[in-house]
Amino acid sequence: MTSVRVGVVGLRMGLHLAMWCRRVGMTVVAACDRDPERRTAARAELPGAAVVETWAHLLDHDLDAVVLANDFDEHAPLAIAFLERGVHVLSESAACASHEEGRELIAAADRSRATYSFAENYVAHPHVRLIREAVDAGELGRISLIEADYLHGMSPQDMNALVGDPAHWRGRIPPTAYCTHTLSPVLALTDASPVEVTAFVVDEADPRAAVVMATRLSSGALALTRHGFLQGEPDSHWSWVSVRGTRALAESVRAPGERAWAVRVRTEGWAAPDGRTRDEERLPPRHLLDGEPVDRASEGTVRLLQAFRATVEEGKPPLVPVRSAVAASLVGVIGARSLANGSRPIPMPALPGL
Ligand SMILES: NC(=O)c1ccc[n+]([C@@H]2O[C@H](COP(=O)([O-])OP(=O)(O)OC[C@H]3O[C@@H](n4cnc5c(N)ncnc54)[C@H](O)[C@@H]3O)[C@@H](O)[C@H]2O)c1
Repeated sequence: MTSVRVGVVGLRMGLHLAMWCRRVGMTVVAACDRDPERRTAARAELPGAAVVETWAHLLDHDLDAVVLANDFDEHAPLAIAFLERGVHVLSESAACASHEEGRELIAAADRSRATYSFAENYVAHPHVRLIREAVDAGELGRISLIEADYLHGMSPQDMNALVGDPAHWRGRIPPTAYCTHTLSPVLALTDASPVEVTAFVVDEADPRAAVVMATRLSSGALALTRHGFLQGEPDSHWSWVSVRGTRALAESVRAPGERAWAVRVRTEGWAAPDGRTRDEERLPPRHLLDGEPVDRASEGTVRLLQAFRATVEEGKPPLVPVRSAVAASLVGVIGARSLANGSRPIPMPALPGL
């Protein structure tokens, strides 16, 4: 196969992804945005690509794959349309905005000769991968409690500039919705699916700012996730993850700078073969691209796009497949229902094959 021919929908985060697509060896042949300014910016950055206004025009291009980086709550209909054309899909979060959409997306991916991948770079971030290694090596035992944060320590003015416009997707989505940067690592680390969700507003005086969700997992473990705007921003791309197993703990170090990517592993003496307590900090090796280290915050994106390329070119399984994508996204939908019902626990709806 010649270089994978990619189209991109939405040219803000999408332009960032398009640039990395090129760096990892794919060719961006077409792109679209309804905003003329974004199209002008894209023409400057993507010479040779056809840059158009309407995403449906990309259906007529000779594409192997498409990257969906349009509005957060509008991805599923586009993903289904491209899958029906046999075009491989890499979709930003959320995968779907309702149970019905999620079921339709899974059915479309199952029917298609192409594949669906979720663009969840948080699953491939350095600290999450290090924790996964400890889980796979059996160091932690069975996972009992898993916590994940996706938090921004912004000023009230900056927060309002980001989410204050109800006409923009950031302003119209419920405060539980943007949960896949926590839930996708949770599901990937536990190999479990969500069973029941309870959501709480953190501060009743400022209910939009942040939520905590308690998600019961099919493995029996509990996931506690916090997201939104709280002071104490983690330097590891706003992400902090902690896993308590029956034998040990592995968690991101709460520290600034490079150490934010490190993982602390604590094993009590009773669980160690030599009876000695171990408490160590591990820093993942740098990921190289063309022999050069990738900056830490971009590692997840680079690994994600390399995995997507391998899925399209070599038939490798998607890094985050459609069922995990839909399950993580629906936690935000069900969480919103829990909030609307006084933080009552709400069961997750059934999904085919989960
Ligand atoms: N994984 C990450 O780290 C990460 C980071 C930022 C954003 N994102 C995701 O990327 C997506 C986009 O986020 P953003 O910050 O770029 O949002 P944005 O609103 O700033 O930009 C979206 C762009 O898409 C265009 N667009 C939307 N719908 C379109 C349509 N139907 N046809 C043509 N153009 C359309 C808009 O004009 C806009 O330029 C969201 O799903 C967001 O969650 C992910």
